[in-house]
Amino acid sequence: MVKTEILGTDATALTRAADLLRAGSLVAMPTETVYGLAGDAGSDAAVAAIYAAKGRPSFNPLIAHVADMEMAQRLADFPPEALALARAFWPGPLTLVLPLCAGAAVAPRVTAGLPTLAIRMPAHPAARALLREFGGPLAAPSANPSGRISPTEPAHVIDGLGGRIAAVIDGGPCDVGVESTILSVAPDGALRLLRPGGIGAEKILEHTGLTLPAPEAQAEKIEAPGQMLSHYAPRGQVRLNVTDPRPDEVLLAFGPSDSRYSLSQTGDLAEAAANLFRRLHEMDRDGIERIAVAPVPETGIGRAINDRLRRAAAPRD
Ligand code: TXA
Ligand code: MG
Repeated sequence: MVKTEILGTDATALTRAADLLRAGSLVAMPTETVYGLAGDAGSDAAVAAIYAAKGRPSFNPLIAHVADMEMAQRLADFPPEALALARAFWPGPLTLVLPLCAGAAVAPRVTAGLPTLAIRMPAHPAARALLREFGGPLAAPSANPSGRISPTEPAHVIDGLGGRIAAVIDGGPCDVGVESTILSVAPDGALRLLRPGGIGAEKILEHTGLTLPAPEAQAEKIEAPGQMLSHYAPRGQVRLNVTDPRPDEVLLAFGPSDSRYSLSQTGDLAEAAANLFRRLHEMDRDGIERIAVAPVPETGIGRAINDRLRRAAAPRD
């Protein structure tokens, strides 16, 4: 056990965080999507410690977070389509899976031995300042024990990983609330959606003219290797698309409702995404055993919400 320090977002605190990272320790940092568990992406020992702290299977690769395009292009090759996506959405909740550059300074464990690297430039000011101060890429999965609900507040990080990591930077609640959209871009520019997330497919088309093949049209169903069916699991059982909860169920509402737990009273999808993991953490804390979730529309960020809910509801072993 270590004592997990709670750091602020002022310059002194971020210098302390960068020093801890340089020493190979792990620091949870706020991003606009969820809190990330950051470690030096160039250090095999730091990256091994990330897998150990989360209890994450070693075949599930990590995202390298970067401060700027220069740092990104030292790590991966950017076909023109990837440059267009980066220009439109970075910094922001988009992760690109790209061919790893020869000699890129990332520990092999970051990619779990794959020839591709997932890269993201986060928008949260504290994450950006930390990356600049550290001066190199930070490997950062979501800062939760593997398979559990992702953290959108510092208290969630402490609940899951307190005593196992050196520090948490308290940047308040995350704005977006669901993880980044992950797209792979092949050397010939072909795109695949590996994980729905903070940026909807509609927006990608609107801003870049690039279209994503419909999931049915993908020859084989390729997913990010970490997209296990059961994930984001609260302790209670979860039933989806419920309009009439049973007497023994508690409703997680979407739209006007008198339930104690609501994703958005006004039926706003961005608000629902920001509240999703927070409400699931609350229902866990309150010991709710049966959670009935109201239907959420499958458009824009609603796809990411439904993806996370399906995994939260999936059978566990
Ligand atoms: O919003 C986010 O993306 C957050 C914040 C902290 O940045 N991070 C996050 O990391 O969600 P994580 O580790 O929970 O999810 C990363 C996903 C995993 O499903 C992993 O399998 C996939 O990215 N991934 C990483 N590298 C990959 C690669 N080379 N090819 C395909 N999938 C990859
Ligand atoms: Mg995760």
